[in-house]
Amino acid sequence: MAGEPDSRPLRVLACGSTGSGLSTLVEQLAGTPAGPQDPPLRCFDIPMPSGPCRLTEMPADAPHTRHWVAAASEADVALIMVDAAQGVSAHTRRQACLLGLLGVRRWALVVNKIDSVGFDADTVARIDAELRACAAPLGALSITTLPVSGLHGDNLSQRSTRTPWYTGRTLRAWLEDGFAPHLQPASQPKPQPPGPAAEPQPATADQFECTLLWLDEAPLLPGRRYTLALGDQRVDASVTDIKHRLDVPTLQALAARTLARDEVGVCKLALDAPVSFEPYAVNRVRGRFLLVDRSSAHPGANPSPQQPAAAAGLLHFALRRAQNLTLQPLLVDKATRVALMGQQPLVLWFTGLSGAGKSSIANEVAVRLHALGCHTAQLDGDNLRHGLNRDLGFTAADRVENIRRVAEVARLMVDAGLIVLASFISPFRSERELARSRVAPGEFIEVYVDVPLAVAETRDTKGLYARARRGELPHFTGIGSPYEAPEAPEVHLRTDQLTLTEAAEAVMQALRERGLLR
Ligand code: ADX
Repeated sequence: MAGEPDSRPLRVLACGSTGSGLSTLVEQLAGTPAGPQDPPLRCFDIPMPSGPCRLTEMPADAPHTRHWVAAASEADVALIMVDAAQGVSAHTRRQACLLGLLGVRRWALVVNKIDSVGFDADTVARIDAELRACAAPLGALSITTLPVSGLHGDNLSQRSTRTPWYTGRTLRAWLEDGFAPHLQPASQPKPQPPGPAAEPQPATADQFECTLLWLDEAPLLPGRRYTLALGDQRVDASVTDIKHRLDVPTLQALAARTLARDEVGVCKLALDAPVSFEPYAVNRVRGRFLLVDRSSAHPGANPSPQQPAAAAGLLHFALRRAQNLTLQPLLVDKATRVALMGQQPLVLWFTGLSGAGKSSIANEVAVRLHALGCHTAQLDGDNLRHGLNRDLGFTAADRVENIRRVAEVARLMVDAGLIVLASFISPFRSERELARSRVAPGEFIEVYVDVPLAVAETRDTKGLYARARRGELPHFTGIGSPYEAPEAPEVHLRTDQLTLTEAAEAVMQALRERGLLR
C-alpha cells in the first residue's frame, strides 16, 4: 500500500506520565509545530510515506475520561511513553487500561530518556514486563517496546548505535507499519466474507449489555431516563442494572449501585425503541454511543445535541431477553375497563417537601371523589416504603427507583380504570416527567403542594426535620438533598396560605374544569 495515501489519516494517540518527556518526543517525531489547538489536546499532522498520520498528544494532566473517550475511540494505535528511570507509573496503568477498554489494541511502549539509564537493556526488559503484566486483563494486544531518546533522537527515525542490543524498528518505522491494512482496527465496516456469517448478530435490539464510562459530575442513576445517541439514532434509555464497576486499572469487578464521574462499569441498558448496532469489539463506530442527561443541564427543556454527554458507552451484545419478549395483547383492554368503570382514569400526582401536606390533601380529595362514586386508589410514600419499596432508602438512586416503580404501578391502575392519588416527595423533575409519560396525555395532573421549607420545618409532625438538622438524616429533602420544584404543575397549592379544605376543593375544581369528573 506504500505510496497510495488513504484519505483517513492513521490516528495515533500519544500518552505519557508526567515527566516522561512526551511533548519533546512528540515534537521531535512530528518535526512540525502543533496543528490548530483542539483544547486541551495538541494535534500534529505528520506526512508518512504511506499516507498522513495524525498524532494527538494526551498530556498526563488530562486525566478526565471525557478527553480519553474523544481521543481514544478514534485512535488506531497508541504510543505509551514511560520514563526509563521512572518505569510504569500509576498514570501509565490507567492510560493502558483506558486504551484497552476503548479498543486501541496496538501499542508502542516507548521507553524514553534511555540515555538517562545508560542505554540499559535490562531496564527496558523490566518496564516491558511491568506493562505486559498490567495489560494482561485487557485481552489480546500487540505491544512493541522501543528504547528511545526524544531529546537526542535515538531510535526515532534512525536506529541508534547506542542501543546495539536493540534489534527492533524505529518509532517511525513502527508508525509506518500501522498503515498495513491487516493492522487497521475495525473502525470502519469490515468487508463481509462470502458465505453465511459465522455468528449472526441481530441488526437491531432494545436491550444491551455495555461498558459505561461515566463522564458527568452527577452520578449515574439507574432507572433515570437518558437520551441515547448512537450515530444519528436517538432514543430514550435507562440503565436497568449495574452488573459491576470496573476498577481502573486492574479491571477487577466491584459491587456498585451507581457510577461516579470517571468511573467505569458494566451495565444493562433498556431502550424505548430498538436501534441498529454492532458490538464495539466488532465496529468501534456503530458500537459506541453517548448518554445525555435530559434533565440536569436544562431542567424541563428538550435535550440539546450540544449538551455534554453524561456517559460514553461501548456496546457488548444485545440481551437475549430483549428478543424473547413481546407485548402480550390483552382481550379486555383499558378502553373496555374504562367503559365499565364509567369514569375517566387519571393520576393525581402530589409532589412537595415532607410536611407540605401531600398525604392530607390526597386523603381529603379521596373522600370527595369517593362521595361522588369514583373508584380511587391511593399510593403514598410512607406506606409503599413499608412494602413494595421497602428495599429502598433515600439516596438519589433509590428515590429514582422509588418513583419509577410508583409510576409503573400508577400506570397499571390507570389501565384498570382507577383514579390514582399518588403522594410522594418525588424531588426530581426527571422522574415526575417519567410518571407523566407513562399515561396518556391529559391523564396526569401534577399537584405541587408548595410550602416554604421554614414552614414545613416548624410543622415537623414526624420530628424528621429536627433530626436532619442534628445531622441524623443525611439525605433529608430540603436539607441534605435537593427538591426540584415543578415548573408548570396543573395545580399549585400554597399550603401555608390555604386551609386543608380549600386545598382539597382547589384540586376538585381543577378536575371539574378539565371535565375529568362525571
Ligand atoms: S421520595 O423522595 O422517594 O419521593 P417518599 O415520598 O417515598 O420520598 O418518602 C418520603 C417520606 O419518607 C417522608 O414523608 C418522610 O416521612 C420519610 N423520610 C425518611 N427519611 C427521609 C429523607 N431522608 N428524606 C425525605 N423523607 C424521608
